[in-house]
Amino acid sequence: MDLPSDAGSSLLWIFLCSALVWGVCRTVYRLVTNPLSSIPGPQFSKCSSIVLTYKWWFGRRAPYVDSLHKKYGPIVRVAPNEVHINDLSATREIHKVGGRYLKSKWYETLVPPGIVNVFTVSDPNYHSALRRLLAGPIADNQVKVFEPLVTSRVRLAISRIGEELERRGAADVFKWWLFFATDVIGELSFGDSFRMLETGKKNQYILDLERVSSLQAVRTTFPSLLRFSRYVPLPMFRSAYESGKRIGLYAHQSVERYKKLLQVEPNYPKTLFTRFYNAGKEGLSDAEIRNGAVGYIVAGSDTTAITLTYLTWAVCRHPEVQEKLVAELQSLPEDFTDKHLRELPYLSNVINETLRLYSSVPSALPRVVPPEGATLAGYYLPPGTTVCTQAYSLHRDPTIFPDPERFNPERWDNPTKEMNYAFMPFGGGSRICLGLHLARMELRLAVAHFYRAYPTARISTKEGMSDEDMKPKMYFLMSPAGHRCLIEA
Ligand code: HEM
Repeated sequence: MDLPSDAGSSLLWIFLCSALVWGVCRTVYRLVTNPLSSIPGPQFSKCSSIVLTYKWWFGRRAPYVDSLHKKYGPIVRVAPNEVHINDLSATREIHKVGGRYLKSKWYETLVPPGIVNVFTVSDPNYHSALRRLLAGPIADNQVKVFEPLVTSRVRLAISRIGEELERRGAADVFKWWLFFATDVIGELSFGDSFRMLETGKKNQYILDLERVSSLQAVRTTFPSLLRFSRYVPLPMFRSAYESGKRIGLYAHQSVERYKKLLQVEPNYPKTLFTRFYNAGKEGLSDAEIRNGAVGYIVAGSDTTAITLTYLTWAVCRHPEVQEKLVAELQSLPEDFTDKHLRELPYLSNVINETLRLYSSVPSALPRVVPPEGATLAGYYLPPGTTVCTQAYSLHRDPTIFPDPERFNPERWDNPTKEMNYAFMPFGGGSRICLGLHLARMELRLAVAHFYRAYPTARISTKEGMSDEDMKPKMYFLMSPAGHRCLIEA
C-alpha cells in the first residue's frame, strides 16, 4: 500500500530527528562517561583534535600545548584520546628503562610509508633486537674511534666557512653545519658520504633533508592519503611522496655502495652498521638495512645541525657568553682532542643550555597507556590513551629552570636533581637517543674549532638576515624558518 506523500515525508522527518537526537545523546553520554572527561583542557578537545592538528600543521603545536599547561596545569587533554603531561614523576614513569608505555603507531606515519626501523618501531622485542645490533659501536666508550673522522670533517667545515666569509662577506652556518652532520653520519654509517662539504652546494639530497621537518606535518596529518599521493594532484602530497621516495633511494644507494666496498676490501673500516651486515643468524634483510639507514640519515643529520646552528646564533647574540666561552677554549693546547673538551665546564654548560632552550626535538613524544591502564599526575588514564610529554614544556618549567626563556649557561654550574630529571633533549628510558654520545662529541668538537677560529663571530644583517629567519618552526624536529643563519667574522 502506498503512503500518501505527506505521511511519507512526516515519517522521514521523524526518522531524521530521531537519528539526530540519538546521535547527540550518544555523543553527550560518551563525553560525560569518558574516563578522560575529568581531565582539564579546552572543551573542544573533548570532541575533536582539529585545533591541535591546525597548530601542528603550522609548526606551532609545542608552544600551543605549553600555553595549555600554563592555563590548565600539569595534565591537559588535547584531543579526544590524547593527553599531555608536564609532571616530573609521571614523565619518569612513562620514559623509564623497560617501561610499558610503548611508542604509538603515530611514529610510523612520520617516515615514508612502509619504513619500520629502530626509531619508529613499537614492538618492544623487535626494537630491542635492532637496538642490540646498533648500540655497541655508538656507546660512549666506543665513539672515540670515530673522533679523527669527526675532527677532520669539522676542520673542513671551518675552512669552507672561511672561504664563504671571504667571498660573500658572510657565511651561512646552517648550511655548513648540515653539510658537516650529513657527511659525518654518511661516512660513519656507510663508509662514504655525499661529500657535501667538498662540493659545497645544496643538492636535491640536502633540499630533501631540509624539508623533512615540514613534510612531517603532511605525513602525519594525512597518512592514508599519502599512500595514494601519486594519484592526488596536490603539490604538497606529491612532494611529500617524492621526497620520501628519494630518501629511501639515497639509503638504498648508500647501503649498496658499502656492500661493494666490502666486496673489494673485506677489512674495510667498521661502521655504525657493521653488525647489521654481519647479523648472520639474526639475519637482517636488505629492506631492514635500508630502513635502518633512512633512520640514521634523518635522525643523525638535522638534529645535530639544528643544535649547532642555534648554539652559534645564541652565543653570538650574548657577548658575555661568547667572551667566556672563547677564553675557556683559548686555554686549550694546539693539539687538543675531545678528551680535553670533555673537561671544559663552560663548553658543557653552553651545549646543555642550547639543548634546553632550543631542543631540536621539542614536541610531543607520544606513548600508549599499557593494557592495565595508569594513574598519572593524579588522573586515571584508560588503556590505549595516547600520553605525550614534550621537551619544550619540561625545559621551560619556571619552578625548575627560573627565568626559562633566558639563555643562561651559568644555570648548569650546579644543576639540581630536578633540572637533571626534567632535561630530556635526547628523550629517555629504553627509547633514549642512540646517537647521543656521537652527537655530543660532534657538538663539542664543532663548537671548539669554530670559536677558536672565529672568536669574534657575530650575526650578520647582510642579505636581509634577521631574527625572523631564526624563528623556530616546530614539527617533530624544529628548524629555523628562514633555513639559514648568516654570520660574519
Ligand atoms: C643533537 C642531536 C640529537 C638530538 C637532539 C636527538 C634527539 C633524539 C630524541 C629526542 C630521540 C627520542 C625520540 C622519541 O622518543 O620519540 C632520539 C632518538 C633516536 N636518535 Fe637521536 N638525536 C640527536 C642525534 C642523533 C644522532 C647523531 C643519531 C645517529 C646515530 C641519532 C639516532 C637516533 C636513533 C636511532 C633514535 C631512536 C632510538 C630508539 O628508539 O631506540 N640521533 N633522538
